[in-house]
Amino acid sequence: MIPDKVPKEDVFHGSEELKKEAHVPSFERYKELYLKSIESPDEFWADIAKDFFWKTKHTGPFLDYNFDVTKGEIFVKCMDGASTNICYNVLDRNVHERKLGNKVAFYWEGNEPGDELTVTYRELLQRVCQFANVLKSHGVKKGDRVSIYMPMVVELVVAMLACVRIGAVHSIVFAGFSAESLCERIMDSQCSLLITADGFYRGDKLINLKLLADEALQKCRDKGFPVQRCIMLKHLSKEADETPLGSQSPPAKRSCPDLQVPWNPEVDLCWHTLVRGASDECEPEWCESEDQLFILYTSGSTGKPKGVLHTVGGYMLYTAATFKLVFDYQPDDIYWCTADIGWITGHSYITYGPLANGATSVLFEGLPTYPDVGRMWEIVDKYHVTKFYTAPTAIRLLMKYGSEPVQKYKRESLKVLGTVGEPINPEAWQWYYTVVGERRCPIVDTFWQTETGGHVLTPLPAATPMKPGSATFPFFGVVPAILNESGEELEGPSEGYLVFKQPWPGVMRTVYGNHQRFETTYFKKFPGYYVTGDGCRRDKDGYYWITGRIDDMLNVSGHLLSTAEVESALVEHEAVAEAAVVGRPHPVKGESLYCFVTLNDGVKYNRTLEAELKKQVREKIGAIATPDYIQDAPGLPKTRSGKIMRRVLRKIACDERDMGDISTLADSSVVEQLFQNRCCTGV
Ligand code: WTA
Repeated sequence: MIPDKVPKEDVFHGSEELKKEAHVPSFERYKELYLKSIESPDEFWADIAKDFFWKTKHTGPFLDYNFDVTKGEIFVKCMDGASTNICYNVLDRNVHERKLGNKVAFYWEGNEPGDELTVTYRELLQRVCQFANVLKSHGVKKGDRVSIYMPMVVELVVAMLACVRIGAVHSIVFAGFSAESLCERIMDSQCSLLITADGFYRGDKLINLKLLADEALQKCRDKGFPVQRCIMLKHLSKEADETPLGSQSPPAKRSCPDLQVPWNPEVDLCWHTLVRGASDECEPEWCESEDQLFILYTSGSTGKPKGVLHTVGGYMLYTAATFKLVFDYQPDDIYWCTADIGWITGHSYITYGPLANGATSVLFEGLPTYPDVGRMWEIVDKYHVTKFYTAPTAIRLLMKYGSEPVQKYKRESLKVLGTVGEPINPEAWQWYYTVVGERRCPIVDTFWQTETGGHVLTPLPAATPMKPGSATFPFFGVVPAILNESGEELEGPSEGYLVFKQPWPGVMRTVYGNHQRFETTYFKKFPGYYVTGDGCRRDKDGYYWITGRIDDMLNVSGHLLSTAEVESALVEHEAVAEAAVVGRPHPVKGESLYCFVTLNDGVKYNRTLEAELKKQVREKIGAIATPDYIQDAPGLPKTRSGKIMRRVLRKIACDERDMGDISTLADSSVVEQLFQNRCCTGV
């Protein structure tokens, strides 16, 4: 499956410099290790597990599983019976055994230039212990779910690690989600406590997060699910004496002491008051390897988000190993991942993977374009970032401004560049490689999902010859295949459904509270395989190229959205009878949302209604789901059985007249009408 020979043409190689120190220095070595990881996975992973502290050893096989629905329930177990604690492994072990107490864990860089903070491993451990004690004293126990809705501040990492220290399960909700989305997630995972902040700035824009959190809690109450406690961090309204333990952080430069923070004394607690009296020692709760670690929601094609559940042992091994090898982590690296911790990329590659390796990371609160489009490179120079990980959408956005804002900065510290979240188009790849990395830094195009826990298809920077736009080859332990519609495995150059044939330690274990949905979504279509939902092509050299989602999902700026979710937000508006949403290619965002709405009888479409509909979607889901185009559609193209033909709508959205076969349409005149009404403008 991995080619014998390295292709000679159209490929890029990591520098000799990098190969000298690399963990996996050549393609030959990658192949050797890959074979070992597939032929003797137990041995391969057991080697990696040796680097961690286990309170007790596992009893059963290293990896036990059933991936075939026809043979019974789907399950994956890694190191079953072993006990450990991730927080202990990523903090205590680094401080005490590896003597990294004084090493910087995070350089926090605020939204406003000049707002900064440094946190060492020792300080992080103390702060986590303190907050873990706070959680315990408010009744949080092992197995309880805690919802976290916070901006990108160090306390977000503190909150998540405090949960895992006491065996509680965190469910982080990206702070860009709406109150409604937060409520839905709190209720689905039955969280007993919410941790949030007063507010934050995104560029110039002030977000009053507590207001949204309160609205969400009110919605929960209205639906019969009262959340007992809400702990609020003062981020913007912090006063001078409310600095966190072990740091001299002044109030944020762009603070907002007058921020209107609603307060409900029956529920609300102040983070600073609570930690002030808490001890900074806290014995970790020893957890079973297969105990729940966290829930993270991802869009589901039915519209209702799925609570992807990850467990302790396997996730720890997998994020640690992928971080180390995919970024070729070295002890003097300064690593920066620009994702938000509210997404899986932040979970795995800001918190768990880097900390497990004792790495120093930049934790960035702001935007790539604030206060100007050179911000990223300014930060790279400021901290001498060596390994940099971002999304294609950010690259495309910055590309628009040309090379000058990049070249204003030196970037000479950079060694490896990475991308994640969506396919990277070869133009953006080339720009990233030549302008940002000055042809010196390999690009690791990492394909993975919330569900996979960590990278599954990816180059290794010193080993894999890169082809721009290809996620190249599988990571260790991962066995991909391409299937055709009938479920047959295709060999050689081919295109079809991307699936995986066996589990790796970090794969999700279930959909929280709904194992059946887990089986249906990922395992029913092709029994025996985990189905990613992505299309994929394999070229003559065996390289994998992701072609995009083949289900009803859209990828907007690297964020997955389900068409059903946006449609249901639209039809909740009283004017709308029916809605259909498709993706339309967008030069920066990858895809934009193009919505067709059929209005109720007697309602007229106008700009005010359009604005209301956009607002409706934003409020139901969040700003990331704001429609770019809304088109009045008196009729929708449907089959005789009433199924909306999205394929046809996609063509209309793109103004492509070549429709292919539309003989199954019940009424083909609808199509011409929709072409005539096309939206030509959007945001
Ligand atoms: C897409 C993000 C192409 C893909 C880590 C996947 C990619 C979905 C890549 C998961 C990549 C992610 N090349 N497509 N390198 N990385 N995707 O769950 O469609 O937010 O299924 O996880 O993003 O998105 P999620």
